Amino acid sequence: MKFLVFVPSAQLIFLLGFLIPTLCIDQSKVQCTESERAALLEFKDGLRDPHGLLSSWEGSECCNWRGISCDNETEHVVSLDLGYQRLFDGPSTAWRLSGEITPLLGLKHLNYLDLSFNDFQGIGIPEFIGSMQGLSYLNLSNAGFGGRIPSQLGNLSRLQYLDLNSFYSWHTLYAEDLQWLSHLSSLQYLDMNSVNLANADDWLYAINMLPVLSVLYFPNCQLKKFTTSLAVPNLTSLASLDLSNNRFISPLPNWLFNMSKLECINLQYNQLQGSIPDAFANMTSLEVIQLGKNELLGDILQSIGKLCNLRILDLSSNNITDDVSILAKITSECAGGSLEILNLRGNNLVGNLSDWLAHFKVLTFLDLGSNLLQGSIPASIGNISTLRSLFLSHNTLNGTLPETMGQLSRLNLFDVSHNSLSGIVSHVHFQNLSKLKHLSLGSNSFVFNMSSDWEPPFRLRLIGLRRCRIGPKFPRC
Ligand SMILES: *[C@@H]1O[C@H](CO)[C@@H](O)[C@H](O)[C@H]1NC(C)=O
Ligand SMILES: *[C@@H]1O[C@H](CO)[C@@H](O)[C@H](O)[C@H]1NC(C)=O
Ligand SMILES: *[C@@H]1O[C@H](CO)[C@@H](O)[C@H](O)[C@H]1NC(C)=O
Ligand SMILES: *[C@@H]1O[C@H](CO)[C@@H](O)[C@H](O)[C@H]1NC(C)=O
Ligand SMILES: *[C@@H]1O[C@H](CO)[C@@H](O)[C@H](O)[C@H]1NC(C)=O
Ligand SMILES: *[C@@H]1O[C@H](CO)[C@@H](O)[C@H](O)[C@H]1NC(C)=O
Ligand SMILES: *[C@@H]1O[C@H](CO)[C@@H](O)[C@H](O)[C@H]1NC(C)=O
Ligand SMILES: *[C@@H]1O[C@H](CO)[C@@H](O)[C@H](O)[C@H]1NC(C)=O
Ligand SMILES: *[C@@H]1O[C@H](CO)[C@@H](O)[C@H](O)[C@H]1NC(C)=O
Ligand SMILES: *[C@@H]1O[C@H](CO)[C@@H](O)[C@H](O)[C@H]1NC(C)=O
Ligand SMILES: *[C@@H]1O[C@H](CO)[C@@H](O)[C@H](O)[C@H]1NC(C)=O
Ligand SMILES: *[C@@H]1O[C@H](CO)[C@@H](O)[C@H](O)[C@H]1NC(C)=O
Repeated sequence: MKFLVFVPSAQLIFLLGFLIPTLCIDQSKVQCTESERAALLEFKDGLRDPHGLLSSWEGSECCNWRGISCDNETEHVVSLDLGYQRLFDGPSTAWRLSGEITPLLGLKHLNYLDLSFNDFQGIGIPEFIGSMQGLSYLNLSNAGFGGRIPSQLGNLSRLQYLDLNSFYSWHTLYAEDLQWLSHLSSLQYLDMNSVNLANADDWLYAINMLPVLSVLYFPNCQLKKFTTSLAVPNLTSLASLDLSNNRFISPLPNWLFNMSKLECINLQYNQLQGSIPDAFANMTSLEVIQLGKNELLGDILQSIGKLCNLRILDLSSNNITDDVSILAKITSECAGGSLEILNLRGNNLVGNLSDWLAHFKVLTFLDLGSNLLQGSIPASIGNISTLRSLFLSHNTLNGTLPETMGQLSRLNLFDVSHNSLSGIVSHVHFQNLSKLKHLSLGSNSFVFNMSSDWEPPFRLRLIGLRRCRIGPKFPRC
């Protein structure tokens, strides 16, 4: 009998040494353990999957199955990403996964679970998820879960991202209290958009226990209690706060001003009252302030100019009574160099527009409509070369339309309707307005004088010329 003696050559050792690590990080060769494979198959059995989204879930190499990722070294299943939009880019919502969720307890190493935008048709969030201690990412957003959020989720001490957004869901999630939330000490990102928290009056205390929370989205949650002072405000790492469309009836709470890292704040659609305290001026990280549709009162623009990173300011539909000349101060301070969107529509602003308009450096959207502004529109309007939308309607502006507006070559929307403007409007006013789509000049006393062979540089989608005298020559369509 002859034995073939296998003597590895130096070259072969070299080759193996090169291949083995390569094989290790090749997902196709990573084998998940039998118990994990069994858990996944059982999970698949519970689901209704009419269009075979999980048809790749067969055979032994479960790390290759759609939506599954394994750790390269330990070969354990670490991620189950069945987010409908991302994974399947679904052709129709009818393709979404539904059915039952069997306990995934066989997947002991799972740290990422995404079931977002499937349709679990109102079943509760499974309690067993609270025992998947390795989870750092849990995304159940708009997955059709309903009923009470299980407090067991409070056991997920490594959780960094929790997304329970239900804005697009037919079913309602709710919580009677948020005590369980306060245990999630690693949480950085929390989205509970449209979850019913009407009874969770402890929400702020729970949130205040989360030391590294950076993003908090609680819009449309029916929150009413806005504890105005916290003994020890902890929320110092918060960068983004959305509490819009709740039921807060109170002044801006003091703890807000302790959030020195806050970049975006959205409190619109509440009934916030009173003024904006000077302390706002110290929140220099702010980039976006959305406080529209509240009942804020008085002179409140004073402290805005020092916010050098401010890009968006929306204070529309309040009862602000500043003289707009305060904007001259703002443009001379650093916010004048950063503001892109300024919306002060629907307040009681008084005063005249003037040359400060020209000093905004990057303004693209300006809405001063429905205020008490008077006087004329200054020629310096033509100097805001970055402007794309300009609303000055429903004021008592008078005088003529400055011809310099014809220089606003990026202007897309222009509305000065419902004022007392008068005089001649000619082609000069539109000279460079090649981007213009919406033009509203109605309810003024303009006289149009265009030659009949004038070729407008724009193509309008909407034109409002109510109560304007058109002619004698107006271009044919
Ligand atoms: C596993 O492999 C992937 C792709 O080859 C790589 O991006 C990832 O960093 C690896 N992970 C570990 C833990 O080695
Ligand atoms: C959760 O999934 C949705 C849909 O894929 C996505 O838009 C959202 O950003 C995800 N949430 C987090 C925290 O990643
Ligand atoms: C998980 O949470 C429940 C209820 O909040 C609690 O009774 C249980 O002891 C917790 N389990 C672990 C492992 O922490
Ligand atoms: C602030 O956070 C810490 C750590 O999470 C917590 O121990 C403390 O009780 C919190 N303070 C208040 C007033 O909530
Ligand atoms: C919170 O802000 C208030 C007023 O700005 C200040 O008096 C207080 O010391 C701050 N507290 C903390 C913990 O920063
Ligand atoms: C702003 O901060 C400065 C320095 O930290 C402080 O002296 C001042 O009182 C603060 N202003 C307001 C209105 O809180
Ligand atoms: C706005 O505030 C003024 C006082 O500053 C008050 O007289 C007026 O009634 C308020 N308007 C609304 C709509 O609240
Ligand atoms: C507007 O621009 C014109 C020239 O483009 C310049 O002469 C004028 O000073 C500017 N006005 C303001 C207020 O900046
Ligand atoms: C504002 O405009 C009105 C009306 O044109 C005028 O009477 C008044 O003098 C102007 N005020 C200032 C400060 O320019
Ligand atoms: C605008 O109206 C004010 C009164 O509100 C008047 O004093 C002024 O002369 C008017 N200006 C023009 C240009 O009509
Ligand atoms: C306006 O358009 C004319 C040509 O129609 C051009 O010469 C001029 O530079 C433009 N001005 C501005 C401010 O864009
Ligand atoms: C209308 O414009 C023409 C030139 O386009 C000019 O000759 C005429 O005087 C203008 N009419 C009025 C009323 O301004």
